[in-house]
Amino acid sequence: MSQDGFSAGRIDTSRAHPARIYDYLLGGKDNYEVDQQAGDALAAVAPEVRIGVRANRAFMRRAVRLVVGSGVRQILDIGTGLPTSPNVHEIAQEVAPDVRVAYVDNDPIVSAHADALLSGSGVNSIVLGDLRDPQAVVDHPDVRRVIDFDEPVAVLLVAILHFLTDAEKPGQVVATLRDALPAGSFLVLSHTTGDFADRSDAQAVYSKATATMNLRSRAEIERFFDGFELVEPGLAQVPFWRPDGPPPPGSDEIGFYGGVARKSG
Ligand SMILES: C[S@@+](CC[C@H](N)C(=O)[O-])C[C@H]1O[C@@H](n2cnc3c(N)ncnc32)[C@H](O)[C@@H]1O
Repeated sequence: MSQDGFSAGRIDTSRAHPARIYDYLLGGKDNYEVDQQAGDALAAVAPEVRIGVRANRAFMRRAVRLVVGSGVRQILDIGTGLPTSPNVHEIAQEVAPDVRVAYVDNDPIVSAHADALLSGSGVNSIVLGDLRDPQAVVDHPDVRRVIDFDEPVAVLLVAILHFLTDAEKPGQVVATLRDALPAGSFLVLSHTTGDFADRSDAQAVYSKATATMNLRSRAEIERFFDGFELVEPGLAQVPFWRPDGPPPPGSDEIGFYGGVARKSG
């Protein structure tokens, strides 16, 4: 469904939503009391979470600049989140104005903010879609309007895959997306982990939210890149992935891995 089918009436304020918790942690205003309570509970058990979400966002910006600088002109951003300046299309179109971006999220509140995501002169679209049905995402007419799967595409799965349980087969989900992509395409992925600190209490906060948090180890996350070649430095904690300045204090604690990989022929 395109943004045309949305109304604010479908936005549920009784349960915390990942997009709105994340917006709250980033200092945004598009969140409700229930999301603020969840965000505060997260910060209480994982004090690094606020610098972690900022570092994740900075990773996304560096990764987008890298893939666009490598020549890619189409981005499929699944798990877009609420608009946070600069948004993916703004970062990409600063490097190359002809980049096209298709945004996909399963939370209607994201589409309700379509104006910010569709701003500027580029050809972009926003689609209500679910990563758990990746073929439907790839086949969606509003995705196809913007993305030509015969040309290289950068697929962004930034801070989304951890919302899929093992039973939802995240590996197969990524493989379905990979198989839809031609050689020269990129996967940009970040994912939460408990490798640097025990974060089971943080997972518990999400048990009452609309999606669970599934922390994964380095080895589990690296498997999502099967069929791709990781670019240097491989999978890294997000502040240490091609940093463009000194990592923020506390970076060693950040429970987010990030990586960028290319599909070869
Ligand atoms: C933590 S935010 C990340 C936003 C952005 N990618 C970033 O890293 O700054 C995760 C987003 O993924 C979306 N999401 C979670 N599960 C999803 C699913 N199964 N399909 C599509 N979107 C999903 C949430 O609604 C939320 O907007």
